[in-house]
Amino acid sequence: MLSQTTPLIIALDYASLDAALCMADQLDPARCRLKVGKELFTRSGPAVLEALHGRGFDVFLDLKFHDIPNTVAGAVQAAAEQGVWMVNVHASGGRRMLEAARERLDAQRFRTRLIAVTVLTSLERQDLAEVGLDVTPESQVERLAQLARQAGLDGVVCSAQEASRLRELCGETFLKVTPGIRPAFARQGDQRRVASPAEALAAGSTHLVIGRPVTEAKDPMAALEAIEREL
Ligand code: C5P
Repeated sequence: MLSQTTPLIIALDYASLDAALCMADQLDPARCRLKVGKELFTRSGPAVLEALHGRGFDVFLDLKFHDIPNTVAGAVQAAAEQGVWMVNVHASGGRRMLEAARERLDAQRFRTRLIAVTVLTSLERQDLAEVGLDVTPESQVERLAQLARQAGLDGVVCSAQEASRLRELCGETFLKVTPGIRPAFARQGDQRRVASPAEALAAGSTHLVIGRPVTEAKDPMAALEAIEREL
């Protein structure tokens, strides 16, 4: 499987550049992409992107930008200039922020995928009520996914449980990037609403974000191959 076609994105949730590269060196850039999140990027900065790109990996920079339109446009441009494959922003930043990010990438002819986070899975109805949103998380997810699509974004981060509804609302080609994946061989850990890789793809997920089932495996590449077989 070439990285152009694999749905697998391995989350490099490490506190240091060394630890992240140690894991990357056990993985094959032709078989998976990598996700760099806030902790690793805040500690190691653009050096981690350079090191991973140098090893041939596509990188999803998961920094979930949320700010005024001009600032977010500048941030996604900076990510694109560093060659990342995918970057994300919070859909709750609003239509003008989403459009500004989209327009900036298009104006500079970057092909970086731009996706949105809808509602963080850590938020329940009560949490939304506390910040003044009298809605269910499910309806807010749908609302924000449609807003992201209208603003021209390439997709959203969503759970496997949300993927089939979002496929109906936003279409097949709208990217649905799904964490909370637990292959048959892995423990559930602290993830609550989990799906197997095959279940998530059947539900409409286009990409699967997988962390500990691969990164904590004795043989990460063997774990990745087991996931490919499950697919
Ligand atoms: O180790 P695990 O497979 O649970 O890692 C999942 C990755 O996806 C982590 O980087 C986590 O921060 C991220 N994520 C998540 N649930 C969300 C959004 C992102 O687990 N709702």
